[in-house]
Amino acid sequence: MKALILVGGFGTRLRPLTLSVPKPLVDFANKPMILHQIEALKAIGVTEVVLAINYQPEVMLNFLKDFEAKLGIKITCSQETEPLGTAGPLALARDKLMDKSGEPFFVLNSDVISEYPLKEMIAFHKSHGGEASIMVTKVDEPSKYGVVVMNEATGHVDKFVEKPKIFVGNKINAGIYLLNPSVLDRIQLRPTSIEKEVFPKIAADKKLFAMVLPGFWMDIGQPRDYITGLRLYLESLRKKSSVKLATGSHIVGNVLVDETAKIGEGCLIGPDVAIGPGCVVEAGVRLSRCTVMRGVRIKKHACISSSIIGWHSTVGQWARVENMTILGEDVHVCDEIYSNGGVVLPHKEIKSSILKPEIVM
Ligand code: GDD
Ligand code: MG
Repeated sequence: MKALILVGGFGTRLRPLTLSVPKPLVDFANKPMILHQIEALKAIGVTEVVLAINYQPEVMLNFLKDFEAKLGIKITCSQETEPLGTAGPLALARDKLMDKSGEPFFVLNSDVISEYPLKEMIAFHKSHGGEASIMVTKVDEPSKYGVVVMNEATGHVDKFVEKPKIFVGNKINAGIYLLNPSVLDRIQLRPTSIEKEVFPKIAADKKLFAMVLPGFWMDIGQPRDYITGLRLYLESLRKKSSVKLATGSHIVGNVLVDETAKIGEGCLIGPDVAIGPGCVVEAGVRLSRCTVMRGVRIKKHACISSSIIGWHSTVGQWARVENMTILGEDVHVCDEIYSNGGVVLPHKEIKSSILKPEIVM
């Protein structure tokens, strides 16, 4: 079985992290977002993943070469010379996706995180006999997503409306599809949107079906949602394999600590924290609702909450970093600095406090 991951787009909403790597390589819960997906695909028997890409393909491929061997899965790139949207890339990769078996293939948005119930999705797809299956989930604020109007008993989709201005329902497209090869005949090789141009037509032909996703789901393409996504992910990890979570008197709630990270005396860590490989957290540090990426050093008595600390940055002693502060790669926050929602570009040194949310160039 094959799968295509939509990797394009510049990931502007996740800057400054995406100034260092393409969005799918930004770490989430201590590994690049895209690895969560590739591992889930591998686990249900996908043998080849096509990355539909229009931005820095070399970086992606170099990085993923190691994982091809480790995971035993073929990873190839299908590169656009102009952004083809969310459907055009399928037409471009047509030959890679078609195989003699006529099997359906998966398509995934690269910035969604969930428990990936892909086995259940295959069973659902077989049971309804339609042309396409999409995973849907319920959200409180549907207007920033694709909304699906469906019959929950049969899974039949009546209508698909991308980013509706008026309320049509609260079940939204989760960005995980299983498509018959015949769907490729509906897509032309040009910039085109699967949500606006393809799904509405398959729905009109009564061949589009949706399955309500069991478990959590989040689009982690924006900092606030990324932080919420980590909470949901760790909560689900607690239920499934709690041995992966950190324990000890200094830990509060769900915390993931890479085995190569060092934690000093008298720290208080959690809830909802991920600490990546090679990090050094010195004595007396307080961390909550945050991600600390590979190679970061947090000096004594610093306090970080609701923030993301990019690769190889340092946070000085007694510094206070909070309220959606996002530090790019290799940022140095001096001792005793306060950051209230600072968004700091890579390789900067912060010598004076950031008192209100702003971008520091
Ligand atoms: N190859 C390629 N080329 N990929 C692209 C392009 C392109 O030109 N444009 C976007 N993508 C990729 C993005 O990288 C992402 O993985 C996916 O397509 C969806 O694009 P987003 O920019 O993240 O869209 P969105 O989050 O506003 O909306 C989409 O996702 C929602 C769920 O998170 C839609 O599919 C909505 O219907 C859906 O609800
Ligand atoms: Mg998105």
